Amino acid sequence: MNAPRARVVGTGSFLPEKRLTNDDLAGMMDTSDEWISSRTGILERHIAAEDQVTSDLAAQAGLKALEAAGCDPEELDLIVCATSTPDLVFPATATIVQRKIGAQNAKAPAFDIQAVCTGFVYGLGIADQFIRSGMSKKVLVIGAETFSRIVDWEDRNTCVVFGDGAGAVVLEAVPGENASGILSTHMHADGSHVELLHVTGGVSRGRPEGFDVRHDALGFVDMQGNEVFKHAVKAMGAVAEEALAANGLKVADVDWFIPHQANRRILQATAKRISLPEEKVIMTLDHHGNTSAASVPLALDEAVRDGRIQPGHLVLLDAFGGGFTWAAALIRW
Ligand code: COA
Repeated sequence: MNAPRARVVGTGSFLPEKRLTNDDLAGMMDTSDEWISSRTGILERHIAAEDQVTSDLAAQAGLKALEAAGCDPEELDLIVCATSTPDLVFPATATIVQRKIGAQNAKAPAFDIQAVCTGFVYGLGIADQFIRSGMSKKVLVIGAETFSRIVDWEDRNTCVVFGDGAGAVVLEAVPGENASGILSTHMHADGSHVELLHVTGGVSRGRPEGFDVRHDALGFVDMQGNEVFKHAVKAMGAVAEEALAANGLKVADVDWFIPHQANRRILQATAKRISLPEEKVIMTLDHHGNTSAASVPLALDEAVRDGRIQPGHLVLLDAFGGGFTWAAALIRW
């Protein structure tokens, strides 16, 4: 008998109410709607309210995914939360989410994973292993971020790119013979390029020298945009091809490609690299920007809810982030 397979039975997402447009940014710093939209494709991003933390966004997205799945929070036997902007150093945001969605009575494990923008696809890969091994039967996987708290709002090279949000899926174990479900996941990391995309401070390192201690953050996002761009396109292209080859499938078999919503030009270049027509790329970054670990499940939820993704479709998720980390998941819907 085949090992169980993980099937996506519900998706959900959440964006905070406050919207920050390119014109709003142009009023704050030396930039313009024309520059931001032509270089990135981003038109606006959402920003968490002062009293809203990552677990609030995560819980909202999680509840929507549970509702779509018709699943009671008490049925969950694992919660995985991907985030680089946790509420607290500890405990894990996943445990706070567990309490906020009323899933704590099941006493199921809950933990965070940190792979920056690749976090959700890493989380999906980990959850898939828990289901394949028989350890878990119903899993909530969330990607949630409040990057607005770690960007320097005076640095136009970075702050225009990022936004806050959350997305989630509920996975359910189905018999391995089932045609639909996660076909495979593929995860990679290369720590040679930490400096190209990182936060300049942290708990162990402390604040960077000269850092204004009036800031709440321990450091800010620092990014060599041009370099990151090149690495992202190469790695996302390679892992997409790896996922297809592992399943004996071709690019032409893919119905929907859902890449990390980093930048329109990165998405277009990756699609071109693997010879995938642009109309198969789900692109939602125009209205939420780069939401790091939340971006893939946000785009997935939108495409499920607007009916683009239909049963039987082949869906390829692909992400790249700091570390560098990159990963893909191939799903038969
Ligand atoms: N508004 C106006 N001008 C800006 C600007 C802004 N918001 N940000 C940067 N510039 C300026 C730069 O100062 C530079 O000016 P200079 O030539 O006088 O020095 C010029 O624009 C070009 O900067 P550059 O960094 O080469 O632009 P770019 O075409 O590479 O675009 C990014 C910058 C960040 C949009 C782009 O590199 C990118 O998207 N990279 C990938 C980032 C990403 O997705 N990271 C997350 C991956 S997980």
